[in-house]
Amino acid sequence: MPTYDFIGAIAPGQLGVAQATLPDPTGNQVLIQVQYSTLGPFDLYCLDRQFYVHSYPHTFGVNAAGIIDKVGPGVTDLKVGDRVVALPLPPAPKGAQPYTLQDRSVVAKIPDSLPLEQAVTFPDNYVTAFYTLFNQLGLPLPTAWPAKDTINAGRPILIYGAGATSGQYAVQLLKLAGYTNVVAAASKHHHEYLKTLGATSVVDYKSATFAKEVEEAAKGKVELVVDCISITHTFELITQVIRPGGSIAWLAPFKAGSGSLAGSDGELLFEIPMETQAIFPQAVNFICVRTFHYQQDERLKDVAMPTILPKLIELGFQPNRILLLDHAEPLTRTRDAFELLRQNKVSGEKIVIKIIA
Ligand SMILES: NC(=O)c1ccc[n+]([C@@H]2O[C@H](COP(=O)([O-])OP(=O)(O)OC[C@H]3O[C@@H](n4cnc5c(N)ncnc54)[C@H](OP(=O)(O)O)[C@@H]3O)[C@@H](O)[C@H]2O)c1
Repeated sequence: MPTYDFIGAIAPGQLGVAQATLPDPTGNQVLIQVQYSTLGPFDLYCLDRQFYVHSYPHTFGVNAAGIIDKVGPGVTDLKVGDRVVALPLPPAPKGAQPYTLQDRSVVAKIPDSLPLEQAVTFPDNYVTAFYTLFNQLGLPLPTAWPAKDTINAGRPILIYGAGATSGQYAVQLLKLAGYTNVVAAASKHHHEYLKTLGATSVVDYKSATFAKEVEEAAKGKVELVVDCISITHTFELITQVIRPGGSIAWLAPFKAGSGSLAGSDGELLFEIPMETQAIFPQAVNFICVRTFHYQQDERLKDVAMPTILPKLIELGFQPNRILLLDHAEPLTRTRDAFELLRQNKVSGEKIVIKIIA
């Protein structure tokens, strides 16, 4: 059986070169020759905290972009040579390796005009934003894009951490879904960009008057919140601006005891600790978002990637801005990417890794 080398965790906390066997697609699978993948906070938790790591060597990358190399007998709408992106869902192999075998349902074809190194930012965080809004928070799934006659379009929605790449996609989806009272909380240097993506108003989460500014922007307390950061401090801010009965969809894991997205200390949790819940005097719904489960929603399973993403791209849905690491060889690039993530040096961009030497 032919094999190939990839960069992964070869032991807890240790990067290295590992080998895998080149698989053959069966059924509805496609084999993608990967050109670009991404490294983000989740990969850092895998490397440094052994989060979601069940064995070694462990592969990184919840996004893949490349060229279809082979298709299984059940795949009729993709062919060898097509340019695609994919969202590897466990237990499927991940994306940061020269080949990845994926189910058709997590693959989207990409127009020739869109560079693969930009398109690779879509899968994980686009699906996360989509699932968070139209499943977890219960917003009605639009029947057309852009949506027309959105019911309750003015309901106040806060995207907390909209500078994050997941937050940028949430802002864009809300705009295309017709919502007109979307407050984006991000560092000041993202404000103009977030307005171009569709935020109705923008607020600096570092401002001493954050709560007052959100209320002014939203014209009252907010009903729905997406927390893209999920640390204690973000909940301390959200409690000041959410209405009783409101809902907070927070992107797991909650970085308990950590003051930063890198989550370098404290536990990584799938529930909000009682002491953090206790800072909410009002009754609110805490919704833990785990995108890996999105295919349990039959409405999204076969269309979120294959059909809706290409449609949105046609409508001008913007990929994240990128920090492309294509220097030196793949092991050095990967080391450098993790160091940037560890030091919280990534702001408003997705780290994209060139996979092939
Ligand atoms: N559970 C799931 O299914 C799921 C799916 C996707 C992502 N996630 C999780 O969601 C989190 C974000 O992921 P991502 O890929 O969107 O990250 P990302 O793009 O790497 O996020 C970086 C951004 O986070 C912002 N940020 C950091 N600390 C902040 C704070 N205290 N308040 C407000 N903004 C802050 C920074 O914004 P500024 O530049 O404005 O400072 C920075 O631009 C990660 O923990 C990830 O693991 C979970």
